[in-house]
Amino acid sequence: MGVGVLQQYRDLLPVSEETPIFSMGEGDTPLVRSRNLGRELGCDLFFKLEGCNPTGSFKDRGMVVAIAKAMEDNCLGVMCASTGNTSASAAAYSAYCGLTCWVLIPKGEVALGKLAQAMAYGARVLLVDGNFDAALALVRKFTETHPITLVNSVNQHRIEGQKTASFEVSDVLGDAPDYLFIPVGNAGNITAYWRGFVEYHQLGRNESLPKMMGFQAEGAAPIVRGEPVLHPQTIASAIRIGNPASWKSAERARDQSGGVIDAVSDDEILEAYRLIASREGIFGEPASAASVAGLLKMHRSGLALDGKRVVCVITGTGLKDPDLAVSSVQAHTVEVQPNLEAIESAIMESLPSGA
Ligand code: F0G
Repeated sequence: MGVGVLQQYRDLLPVSEETPIFSMGEGDTPLVRSRNLGRELGCDLFFKLEGCNPTGSFKDRGMVVAIAKAMEDNCLGVMCASTGNTSASAAAYSAYCGLTCWVLIPKGEVALGKLAQAMAYGARVLLVDGNFDAALALVRKFTETHPITLVNSVNQHRIEGQKTASFEVSDVLGDAPDYLFIPVGNAGNITAYWRGFVEYHQLGRNESLPKMMGFQAEGAAPIVRGEPVLHPQTIASAIRIGNPASWKSAERARDQSGGVIDAVSDDEILEAYRLIASREGIFGEPASAASVAGLLKMHRSGLALDGKRVVCVITGTGLKDPDLAVSSVQAHTVEVQPNLEAIESAIMESLPSGA
């Protein structure tokens, strides 16, 4: 492990003799067992920490494959539309490989950390006066007629790379979990995880298949509503998507696995966002918390989780959006004078009761 996705899973990826093999350290992310929430829900709960990838999200798994294949094809450059993480990842891998990278980002709708990444890695950033769906439509049209490689998840190499996360989950657990909870935006990741579990099953490397439990944000839940959402709204900007590219394959993942795709409200997302940080030490971004919000919602509505093995995918790090953390958590912060008495009294006041 630790050699990167292309090397580790080359037999299960579209890697040929001509494909350059490289890694920025993507994949092999931690699967952390819950200490608190799992006990309360009565299940064996794990978090797959995809924020530990080199650019802080799961996108790096698919991007390394997409960029390697683009290199193999001698492409001129790459392009994507993004709610932030795809652009950060595309920009980083392009920088590493010496490719030009163009990113189309919905103006004013992307967490600052992600925009900062794209800029720092040297991508050409086009701020589109429109939403993600509009930006993706433009990128698809443009790359149809120009020799520039589209690296959104409509590029199947992205999905191929992302499926390696389910290989890792199966390898660590010794089988697939009973349930996999995952946020759904453009729906590439739920598609990729399902593909990975099915392939491993066909190879006899996992006995069972998980139920795929996908969660959209209530104001951006086209799959749940059964129709595109023209003006998607949610605090979870990463999944503010009204017309997902992998809609049909997400529905297949749901139906073939016997799972669900449901919606969670912004309040439920924020509750889960705060909960996993303060009770589990896991700082995911709001979109990532949709997986945990979904688990809590299912538990409340009576899903029997007793003794089940459950994985929640934490798709990106909370550090992408520090402003939201500062403004939305109840911080335990006091201002103190720089002397020992002030420190002592502040600490006495905040000691846990009974200590
Ligand atoms: N979580 C995070 C942190 C994301 O950035 C995304 C998607 C998702 C979940 C949803 O995954 O689209 O495969 O269903 N971000 C894309 C982007 C759209 O442009 O970075 P999905």
